[in-house]
Amino acid sequence: MMNQELTDPRILVLVSGSGSNLQALIEATRERDYPGQIVAVGSNRPDVLALERAKRAGIETFTVDHQKFGSRDEFDTALKAEIERHSPDVVVLAGFMRILTPGFVNAFRGRMLNIHPSLLPKYTGLNTHQRALDAGDQRHGVSIHFVTEDLDGGPVIAQAEVAIAADDDAQSLAARAQQQEHVLYPIVLRWFCEGRVQLDGEHATFDGTPLTQPLVLPAEEA
Ligand code: GRF
Repeated sequence: MMNQELTDPRILVLVSGSGSNLQALIEATRERDYPGQIVAVGSNRPDVLALERAKRAGIETFTVDHQKFGSRDEFDTALKAEIERHSPDVVVLAGFMRILTPGFVNAFRGRMLNIHPSLLPKYTGLNTHQRALDAGDQRHGVSIHFVTEDLDGGPVIAQAEVAIAADDDAQSLAARAQQQEHVLYPIVLRWFCEGRVQLDGEHATFDGTPLTQPLVLPAEEA
């Protein structure tokens, strides 16, 4: 498949909480040579810090409060309509804590990314840092993947690793993993905007070649 760089890609970020990843993306996309711009930030919760961060950066925000909908389908339909209003080229889930319906996910197939705090396929779901500690793992990390119907199971694009120290607890490990998230997400989003990362069927591709394993951040970028 040919790489196709998007023209001034429109990035829409979905959040639910503190938005530290959003902040890293805001700062990266402000750089002059960044190949995309954040056109809107959407949340399923009102009054979260992530929305504040977006507003402070002068980015349009919207909230689709999941508590106001009777079913996941109704919520997803409303969220999809809000997103489409902004005609994004890519939807970036950055700490967005709602499970999305297959219809929603498929509408954005190949143009929706998520960050997950584990070395997928290990530890899908929640409490990933504690689970890595409980398992006695020596390595932990974060993954960025295309979103598919398979929760936290879509093709992984890239990972950044964190060594687990003997005295780590879930909090200290989470803090170091988050630092890696903030480095990795802007890089992978840049690759997507440049057309270097794509979803081809069931595989993520990089520069047109299917990834047999995730890309790992070179040490100097970590
Ligand atoms: C991140 O750790 C991410 O891996 C997970 O949710 C957290 C969001 O943090 N999906 P923040 O809102 O970006 O600070």
